[in-house]
Amino acid sequence: MKLKYLVTLAVIVTVAGVNAAIVTTVKGREKMDIKKEVFGTTKDGQEADLYTLRNANGLTIKITNYGGIVTELHVPDRDGNLDDIVLGYKSLDKYIANSPYFGAIVGRYANRIADGKFTLGGKEYTLAKNEKGINHLHGGTKGFDKVLWEAEPMETDEGPALKLSYTSADGEEGYPGQLNCTVIYTLTNNNELKINYEAKTDKATVLNITHHGYFNLAGQSSGDILSHKLMLNADFYTPVDKNLIPTGEIKSVSGTPLDFRKPTAIGARIDQVKGGYDHNFVLNKPERGALSLAAEVYEKGSGRMMQVFTTEPGIQFYSGNFLNGSNKGKGTVYNKHWAFALETQHFPDSPNKPHFPSVVLKPGEKYEHTAVLKFSTK
Ligand code: BGC
Repeated sequence: MKLKYLVTLAVIVTVAGVNAAIVTTVKGREKMDIKKEVFGTTKDGQEADLYTLRNANGLTIKITNYGGIVTELHVPDRDGNLDDIVLGYKSLDKYIANSPYFGAIVGRYANRIADGKFTLGGKEYTLAKNEKGINHLHGGTKGFDKVLWEAEPMETDEGPALKLSYTSADGEEGYPGQLNCTVIYTLTNNNELKINYEAKTDKATVLNITHHGYFNLAGQSSGDILSHKLMLNADFYTPVDKNLIPTGEIKSVSGTPLDFRKPTAIGARIDQVKGGYDHNFVLNKPERGALSLAAEVYEKGSGRMMQVFTTEPGIQFYSGNFLNGSNKGKGTVYNKHWAFALETQHFPDSPNKPHFPSVVLKPGEKYEHTAVLKFSTK
């Protein structure tokens, strides 16, 4: 056995009556940590935990198994100073009370389904119209962001990881089929947050799972993201109607404020987009399903850069338009445009748009989706 795999240390400590299990693995000079503590109790009395993962370079992520929410993500600036770059809350109660999907796993169907209806195999399915009584949004009344996932911390060759599993019952939130899902978050020693999604069903169904991180590369309490420079690897987007439902067209970004093919400040043309950016972009891909670069965001002050790679055909770029100071986050309230989201996904309302890439999963098939957020500085 190689020396670098030799030292594995497990310590159980009790901190203020809370059991926290710390597993420290020393691989040669690399050191990874996974820590578990109680985060809080759900309304029906179930305990939610908080896992802290640290990679060999000191990057740290906190994830709760309630909604698979990433509550904190600390990455270095160009001088090596760590700062938390995701919006969120300090306590479980606040996530339960009111959260615009901060850092959560979103499903079964992330984004919108028009009128909360779709037809599959000749049968019409009705879903909750949980967005202003008009659309089905982000999986419904109690989507994947509001359920408890089973969590299993793992040490992998790439870095510390947390495997989350959830079985969504047949008919849950109106969707057909029992869906067995796993989401693995890995904080790699290459300073990436890798998210691997898998699902299987026992009846034909539709799905579109994503992670809804709200990022501010200058730090979560540092103001708006309008000076962040964004590159989107997309020649086309899916225009939407006034209810943010795709019209079905696939339009060129050329000559529009949605052209981010060259890095451009998010705020440079945002006034030309009614309400701000909240659009699905059709990603340029070498081939369908390939893991390829979708987006790049750079914040000059800190030097932080985030690159997004995905196997998915689309990405939702949302410029935090609905943040309005009503969410008291980690030591600060969050105002309009204080974060951006880049949600790797299939196109919104695909169940009602047969010409969009299919979101149907059948028994015997496996849903697979990978997203990689790579952090660096320049
Ligand atoms: C949507 C926004 C929505 C936000 C929070 C994004 O994915 O596109 O319209 O406000 O999620 O729900």
